[in-house]
Amino acid sequence: MDTELKRTLQVLIVENNDVDRAVLINMLSKAPYGSFQISATDSLQETFELLKQSLVDVVLLDLNIKDSNGIDTLKRLHGRYPQLAVVVNTGEYQDDLGLRAVTMGAQDYLIKGMYKSYGLVKALYYAIERKKAETELHKAMDELKEMQAQLIRAEKMNVVGGVASGIAHEVKNPLATILYGVEYLNTVLKDGDDKIELTLRSIKDAAYKANSIIKDLLDFASLSDIKRDLCPIERTIEQGLVLTHHQCEKFQIKIVKHFATNLPNVLIDKNRIEQVVVDLILNAIAVMKNGGTLTIRTTRKIFDRSDISVASNLTDSIAVGEDVLIVDFEDTGKGIPDEYLEKIFDPFFTTHRAAGGVGLGLSIARTIMDSHGGMIDLANKEDKQGARARLVFKVNGK
Ligand SMILES: Nc1ncnc2c1ncn2[C@@H]1O[C@H](COP(=O)(O)OP(=O)(O)O)[C@@H](O)[C@H]1O
Ligand SMILES: [Mg+2]
Repeated sequence: MDTELKRTLQVLIVENNDVDRAVLINMLSKAPYGSFQISATDSLQETFELLKQSLVDVVLLDLNIKDSNGIDTLKRLHGRYPQLAVVVNTGEYQDDLGLRAVTMGAQDYLIKGMYKSYGLVKALYYAIERKKAETELHKAMDELKEMQAQLIRAEKMNVVGGVASGIAHEVKNPLATILYGVEYLNTVLKDGDDKIELTLRSIKDAAYKANSIIKDLLDFASLSDIKRDLCPIERTIEQGLVLTHHQCEKFQIKIVKHFATNLPNVLIDKNRIEQVVVDLILNAIAVMKNGGTLTIRTTRKIFDRSDISVASNLTDSIAVGEDVLIVDFEDTGKGIPDEYLEKIFDPFFTTHRAAGGVGLGLSIARTIMDSHGGMIDLANKEDKQGARARLVFKVNGK
C-alpha cells in the first residue's frame, strides 16, 4: 500500500451522466492522499478501446451506461479483462446488486451520493490491492492444481508399473512353457494333419504376441538402467524411419523432413530413443491408414511453457529458458478427441484395440523421456488437421 500511494494511479471513469462524472473528478482532485491520472468515457465500447491502448489501474464503473445496462455491464467488462480492478459505482440502491457485483468480479461497490472523497479514494486503493491478492491466489491455486495433477499422474504410473511388472514376471514362465511345448509338438507331429498344424500355428502366434506385450511391460517397469552417449538426433530419427519404412510404404505415407542444420548432439540412449521414435511413427501411421503425410521437424530453441500442453509429463523436468532440441512428428490423421487428451499417456489406453493396439507405446515413451530428463507431448495441430507428437531434449542434458 505504501508504494502504491507514491505512484500516480491511472483511473478510468465509465459514467454517462455528465454531472456524476464531474463530481467524481472533483472528488479525486480534492483527495486527502494519492495522485490520479483520470480518463473517462460513457460507453463500454470505448472502455474496451481505452483499455487496449493504455494501462489502467482501476475502473470506476457505472452499471447503466450508453451501450450497456445492469450487472451485464460488469460481466462483459470482467469477461474481457478478468485481471482488472473494478469498483462499481451506481445510483441504484439494491441490496443484492452490490453482493452480486462483488461475486461477479468487482472489488467493491459504491452508491452515488453515499460517500465522500476519502471513501472513494480508499475504495480505489483497496480495490487494486484486493485484485492483486486475488490474482496471486489464483496463480498459486493453478500451480497447486497442476502439481497435484502431476503427483496423481506419477503415482498412477508407479502403481501400474509395479502391478504390470508383477504380472509380467508371473506370466513369463508359463508363457515360455507354452512356447517350448508348441515347438516340441511341431517337431513330433511332423506329418500331422492340417488342422493340428493350423491350431499349433495360432497358439504359437498368440503366445508370441503375449510374449511381446510382456516384454513391453517389463521394459516399462525397468527403464531406469539407460546408457547414454552424445548422439546426433537425426541419425536416431533416420534409424526409426528405416525400421518403419515398410509400413509407411504400405499405407502410402509421405515422409517430409525438416531438419535444422548444425544441431548439437544430445545425450541419449540411442536404442531407447529409437524405440520412442518408432512408436510415434507407428502411432501416426495408425491414424493415416488411407495415406497421409508425416512431417518430422527438428528445432533448437529456448524452452517456453507454451512449447508443451498441460497433459504431458510426469514432472516438469525442463525449466523455462533452457536450451532445448525439439523433434516434432506432425501427421495428417484425424487428431485426438478432447476427451482423450488426458488419457492417451495412461498405460493400456488405446483406441486401436481391435487393430491389435495395446496402449503401452506412449506410456513407455514417456517413461523413457522422463529418464532422459526430457519431455514428450501430444497435441492437436493448430490447424486441427491431425496431431503433433513432440519430444523435447535438453541440449546440455544430464
Ligand atoms: N498421432 C496420433 N493421432 C491421434 N491419436 C493418437 C496419436 N498417437 C496416439 N494417439 C492416441 O493415443 C492412444 C495411445 O497410444 P499408444 O500408447 O501408443 O497405444 P496404441 O498405439 O497401442 O494405441 C492411441 O490409441 C490413440 O488413441
Ligand atoms: Mg502406439
